[in-house]
Amino acid sequence: MSAYIVLGAQWGDEGKGKMTDYLAEDADIVVRFQGGNNAGHTVEVGEKQYKLHLIPSGILYKNKINVIGNGVVLDPRALFEEMDYLKDLGVKISPQNLIISDRAQLIMPYHKVLDGIKERARGHKDIGTTKKGIGPCYTDKMERSGIRICDFINEQVFKEKLKYNIEDKNNIINQVYGEEKLQFDEIYNEYIIFSRKIKPFVKDTSVLVYNYIKSGKEVLFEGAQGTLLDIDYGTYPYVTSSNTIAGGVCTGVGIGPTLVNSAVGIAKAYTTRVGKGPFPTELDDSTGEWIREKGHEYGVTTGRARRCGWLDLVILKTAARVSGLTSFAVTKIDTLAGLEKIKICVGYRLKGKVIDYVPASLEDLAKCEPIYEEFQGWDQNIADARNYDEIPENAKLYLNKIEDFTKTKVSIISVGPRRNQTIKVTEI
Ligand code: GDP
Ligand code: IMO
Ligand code: MG
Repeated sequence: MSAYIVLGAQWGDEGKGKMTDYLAEDADIVVRFQGGNNAGHTVEVGEKQYKLHLIPSGILYKNKINVIGNGVVLDPRALFEEMDYLKDLGVKISPQNLIISDRAQLIMPYHKVLDGIKERARGHKDIGTTKKGIGPCYTDKMERSGIRICDFINEQVFKEKLKYNIEDKNNIINQVYGEEKLQFDEIYNEYIIFSRKIKPFVKDTSVLVYNYIKSGKEVLFEGAQGTLLDIDYGTYPYVTSSNTIAGGVCTGVGIGPTLVNSAVGIAKAYTTRVGKGPFPTELDDSTGEWIREKGHEYGVTTGRARRCGWLDLVILKTAARVSGLTSFAVTKIDTLAGLEKIKICVGYRLKGKVIDYVPASLEDLAKCEPIYEEFQGWDQNIADARNYDEIPENAKLYLNKIEDFTKTKVSIISVGPRRNQTIKVTEI
């Protein structure tokens, strides 16, 4: 196996950071292919906890190369803040272990302003974005007015593109929404310093990753967000603005699908979501509250309380289909210990029929009634389990159900946030 994908199978926060860190032990290079600093990936190694937003989770190992691919939207201020944060924790970062694509798009202050303005304008129909400027930056990319990293490090090109963009955005910010205009000089003076600082890290990363794969190196692609936040296959418009599914790797890194060997879907043993949007198995009751507190379900990026609900196999089946998953890694199974009964959603009842996929229409999804199967819980604390035999029988039945319904094996079981709290069952 030389190139494999780790991606979220639900609405994000499944434990991708932890699983990337675990799997990266065998990898030579870790690559982010989409999203930006809207992501919040937690990695715990021993007593230390690291919160990563933009920098790949392989950075905590010495001697691994970390790549920010062309599909990522990069906020340079956030990048340098994250570098400082990691430096304070003893992590060394240099152009030797962090490489940034010359084709990645730049998040600028006007993208963040527009993210806020658009959310306010949506009123009660707001998406609940992270307000990091992600949507407006991808909008510019598609509209072809974005500033790429290669433009950013060319001072003349940057100046021209920034001038055009500030004028264009001020029309919207000031004339349409009546908010204060942004000043070119202020932004230019701050960002030209970032431009000079970022230059040594910039390369054509498609060429780099391709050559690594061809020379037999192990490459791990680290997804951000999750399948149901995908711009095409998520619960649109309550999604993020990128392709979070496996297909995003090809366009977001610049390699072909035939070079990828496997794709692991990270699935939390229950379901969570931050921000607005449909959530068929949401528990708006004391059980949901119990899961939130026991699982510490609060956002890494925004601190918001995550909405919690039962495991939804319709979602996992959808994830397995749209990404061609070779296996699931199931996380936070330890959190469920102590519940007397646990439910799993095994289908949606829609207009008198039973379906096992997520419908495109939000109106239809709102009408979907989850069909539940009830499982007996377990009391044993699984956090110390280190092999499959130490997993309680009832938890095994729970995991078997995931495999049966999705026709996809469970390769890894995660029983705690730390690197060593992981049970490998089969190859990914
Ligand atoms: P990501 O965005 O997918 O990387 O996930 P987050 O880091 O946002 O949220 C996952 C949270 O669960 C983090 O606090 C992790 O440290 C934690 N975590 C990951 N795997 C496990 C697990 O198996 N058990 C428990 N109890 N916590 C876990
Ligand atoms: P990780 O990688 C969970 C959600 C936001 C909002 C929607 C759109 O840590 O799993 P955006 O700012 O991207 O335009 O917001 O997507 N969202 C996430 N939810 N985990 C994430 O990342 C998320 N990144 C964005 O809450 O609902
Ligand atoms: Mg997260």
